[in-house]
Amino acid sequence: MPLIFGASMRDLWNLAPDMDFLNHGSFGAAPLDVLHFQRQIQEEMERQPVNFMVDVLPDRLRAAAADLAEFLGAKPENVVFVPNATTGMNAVLRWLKFEPGDRIVTTNHLYGAVRNTLDYVCKRTGAELVVARVPFPIEGPEQVHEVLKAALKGGAKLAVLDHITSMTGLILPIEEMVMQCKEAGVPVLVDGAHAPGQVELDLEALGADWYTGNCHKWLMAPKGCAFLYAREDRQDVMPTSISHFYDQGFTKAFDWTGTQDFSAFLSVTEALYFTRYMDPRRVRNRNRGLAQMAAELLSSAWGTVVPSPMWMRGCMATLDLPVRLAPTLEQAKELHDALWHRHRIEVPVFPFEDRCWLRISAHVYNDLDQYDRLAGAVLQETSALR
Ligand SMILES: Cc1ncc(COP(=O)(O)O)c(C=O)c1O
Repeated sequence: MPLIFGASMRDLWNLAPDMDFLNHGSFGAAPLDVLHFQRQIQEEMERQPVNFMVDVLPDRLRAAAADLAEFLGAKPENVVFVPNATTGMNAVLRWLKFEPGDRIVTTNHLYGAVRNTLDYVCKRTGAELVVARVPFPIEGPEQVHEVLKAALKGGAKLAVLDHITSMTGLILPIEEMVMQCKEAGVPVLVDGAHAPGQVELDLEALGADWYTGNCHKWLMAPKGCAFLYAREDRQDVMPTSISHFYDQGFTKAFDWTGTQDFSAFLSVTEALYFTRYMDPRRVRNRNRGLAQMAAELLSSAWGTVVPSPMWMRGCMATLDLPVRLAPTLEQAKELHDALWHRHRIEVPVFPFEDRCWLRISAHVYNDLDQYDRLAGAVLQETSALR
């Protein structure tokens, strides 16, 4: 039976029916079917916790990692589960050795929490953070290559690069960026928090030293499901929580970091089943097309210009507002809260560089009329400021 995307799919999610949910990007949303699968695993675990943790879990975890690895274009032995991309980034950044004089290269589009980790690491070790300034609005990927090239000129101990930027919703030209770093002899850690499910991945071909990504965003796994990939010659990293098997290799060390609820990790197989059933390419194309139509609809309603080219965007688009709001968290929150409380529209607004921006997401349960409502609601809420 052909799947009809849009409002008719909302029954497959637990999302409240009285809202327009235009922020799949921040935390994802798992389908009911995947949540049900997770609940069954939790019940199984609680029926005989010792047997489950000691005898059942190790193989089951590796089988789930192998299923995920296949989807990511990675070898199973190079992929471990972590609860979120933050943990994946911390595992690498806090394990690597830095010393005064070392340079760590990144961009100004880096996710705030990761920037905090880098600030902490630099403060503790004396390493220097070199921030390549990628312009936004942006015209094309060559602007990214230019600033990265300049930043790598002085050499670096590590480059920390986003695959899809959080605030600006840009798909960065990661293949070429990794190549640039390799040519400069600089190892790369990629933050792919938004990538799995939103873009096609082939991690072995990409060749980054480390890559972390969330399954609980665009892959529709339950919250607390993410992965860390380490190329086979770069598996000398450790989880931030050292536990029983810390000296028994990469997968063993990460597969057990202490007692926890492993059901989100194990449910990735159901999320993958759901994704494959819908056809990942078809889902990506449909969502990308919807995000593009929505970006055009909104920018034309607001008299603005979309600040990035279509080929640098996936299922999200960050847009200029009809009025320029000062780049403060308070301003952003005021508009966000007005849209939520007065219009039941969930959409993120945030400060970046010189102003506030709004980011839309498009998933299979969204329809164009939801962005039409957003267009009117934003015009209404900002009318007094124009
Ligand atoms: C680029 C990027 N990195 C890291 C994260 C952190 O993800 P998590 O909260 O799942 O660790 C996010 C979350 O949105 C993100 O957008």
